[in-house]
Amino acid sequence: MTEKERAPILIIGAGAMGRLWAGLLSPRVSVRLATRSTTSATLQYTLVHLEGHSERIEIGPSSNAPPGSVLVMTKAPDAESALTAVSSHIPPDVPIILFQNGMGSQQDIAKRFSQRPVFAASTTEGAYIDDGGRVIHAGRGTTWLGPLTTTAHTRLDQTMITLRLSELDIQSDPDIEGRLWQKLAINAGINPFTALIDCPNGEILGHPYFEERIADVCREVAALMQASGRPVEAQSLEAHVRDVARRTAANSSSMRQDVRAGRTTEIDMMNGFVVQASVIHGLDAPVNCELTDAVTHLKQD
Ligand SMILES: NC(=O)c1ccc[n+]([C@@H]2O[C@H](COP(=O)([O-])OP(=O)(O)OC[C@H]3O[C@@H](n4cnc5c(N)ncnc54)[C@H](OP(=O)(O)O)[C@@H]3O)[C@@H](O)[C@H]2O)c1
Repeated sequence: MTEKERAPILIIGAGAMGRLWAGLLSPRVSVRLATRSTTSATLQYTLVHLEGHSERIEIGPSSNAPPGSVLVMTKAPDAESALTAVSSHIPPDVPIILFQNGMGSQQDIAKRFSQRPVFAASTTEGAYIDDGGRVIHAGRGTTWLGPLTTTAHTRLDQTMITLRLSELDIQSDPDIEGRLWQKLAINAGINPFTALIDCPNGEILGHPYFEERIADVCREVAALMQASGRPVEAQSLEAHVRDVARRTAANSSSMRQDVRAGRTTEIDMMNGFVVQASVIHGLDAPVNCELTDAVTHLKQD
């Protein structure tokens, strides 16, 4: 059986990540894209590869044919409802891979679909859609994959093989939740500030709004991580936040881009998650709460 004869990969969400992965996988395996719309049109777009060359991509619409694996590539607030909408067409043993940033949505989905092989993927690949509708593969990274449910453990190797059809760097991480916590801590220390100050990552450093709050943000996140069995020093967390902001100085965070485009942000799964989870542990997270409220009001203005 050739890869093209395998059951198709279903990608839910035709945004920057969904289109990037669809474009990279489609030369080697059949890919279907599930969008919010009910129309059954073929999706055509230009993918600009890292090396700079452009490729025309054509992906057929989603069908009721059972997929061989499912990549959920919506934003975190949409992931559970998007997956639920198509779940009756997904056989129970088919791997489901969640690509969302932040925390909370992955655990809610793993709980709801606990009998299925559900994975989380944490990726440092970068992609965006430019003003002309072209999908830009903006940064080469690594995608870490790990199981969230018991049945996922037995499907890890097969799922790694599937994702490697993209020819991206795919690695396994048995403690994927630890990796999600690390990324959450960095995102919580960078993203809301870039959205509120409206600046690229590097410009938060030295800005009074950031400097007055970052130590408290990290102290609150570290206290939550300690209570969750993920001990980390607040000071080393802050040093890591500053280091990532420095190394990605020219980047415009997804939260800043979402606010600018009038889209829902992932604040509820980042600083908002820190606030909610702190309450469960009897902790206070007032500065993360302030940032969550401020970003929520930004998107409503
Ligand atoms: N882009 C990156 O470089 C990057 C890197 C690492 C991680 N991530 C994470 O990957 C996830 C996706 O990011 P992204 O940049 O691709 O976001 P995006 O460009 O906003 O794409 C999300 C897509 O999901 C669609 N969608 C929403 N609800 C849906 C539903 N019920 N059914 C089908 N499709 C639905 C959206 O459609 P509408 O436009 O109609 O809402 C949109 O096309 C996020 O959690 C993000 O944090 C992204």
